[in-house]
Amino acid sequence: VDLSTANTLRLPCIAERFAEPATLGALRQTLAEASRQQWPVTLLGGGSNVLLPPALDGLALRPRLRQSWLMREGDEVLAHVGAGINWHALVLDIAARGLWGIENLALIPGDCGAAPVQNIGAYGVELSDSLHAVQVMELATGKIRWLSKADCAFGYRDSVFKHELNERAVITRLVLRLSRQPAPKLHYGDLAARLSKTPTAMDVVRAVSAIRQEKLPDPARLANAGSFFKNPLVDDQQAKALSSRYPGMPSFPQHNGQTKLAAGWLIDQCGLKGVREGAFGVHDRQALVLVHQGGGDREGLLGFAGRIVERVKERFGVALEPEPRIIQP
Ligand code: EPU
Repeated sequence: VDLSTANTLRLPCIAERFAEPATLGALRQTLAEASRQQWPVTLLGGGSNVLLPPALDGLALRPRLRQSWLMREGDEVLAHVGAGINWHALVLDIAARGLWGIENLALIPGDCGAAPVQNIGAYGVELSDSLHAVQVMELATGKIRWLSKADCAFGYRDSVFKHELNERAVITRLVLRLSRQPAPKLHYGDLAARLSKTPTAMDVVRAVSAIRQEKLPDPARLANAGSFFKNPLVDDQQAKALSSRYPGMPSFPQHNGQTKLAAGWLIDQCGLKGVREGAFGVHDRQALVLVHQGGGDREGLLGFAGRIVERVKERFGVALEPEPRIIQP
């Protein structure tokens, strides 16, 4: 099964098998079959945050559960959302109902089921701010389990789904806690400057979408996986030393004695924005995004990324790490 158009980086990938179960029953049967046949299972969502290998053994699985409903509780609303729903479609639907909580996460590509894995975040908001619970199906047993927000162990682009539950549980449903009371979060970048003091949730969706469209390439036109590197965390001492040497350097102190730096800025300062090497390049409007012009593969991309990591390490002494998931064959 050719998955080269099922990943937004358009890396060539042939999977031995691919299934898209749309109900819990179908998912359970598919997992039981995989377990009987001892097929290794690779979980996929919209393919917008993965580096696929040229050949994938066993079974690639994309859950397509699409049921969703709202449950009202005073001023709060719980949204139950099937893993197979497109994330941005959900953001539009929720904002159109005048509900608050995920409007800053507009235009992030991918499926809802993938959102908790890396705790998607943008413009000062993370999924974990509104996530209430996650329903999963255990790969080995087909059993349904519920995880609270605390169980998910969310961090910056991190969760239990990248560690203890990696390839052990399929996310089948999210429960989000949303608010009917206006709660605009406009402190990131120039978001506030683009909006009135009393925007609607849909106004915020439009402003965020506009900013993203100015900087980030549309994967339908130019293959990419959004940010290719995580913003690095350094200790406050190293951050201070760098800031005094580079006064214009963006830095975001965290609560734990660490400071987050902007990987895009570091790459940009190395003069790498817009460079191209064979099939791959650094996007010319946002240096954190690597683009694939066609004809390349995962090895080529990892080689190109490795040379960027080296340049940043030499210049700033900071180690960048890839942000998309590197799927093993
Ligand atoms: N910058 C540069 N040059 C560049 C890119 C950025 O100087 O080429 C500077 C900017 O001027 C700004 C700072 O770096 O001062 C941060 O840039 P930006 O606001 O564009 O955000 P980012 O840190 O590069 C992160 C997320 C994005 C998210 C934006 C907005 C990560 C790895 N990336 O990018 O998430 O949309 O913030 O919140 O945390 C993604 O994960 O795929 C993604 C796109």
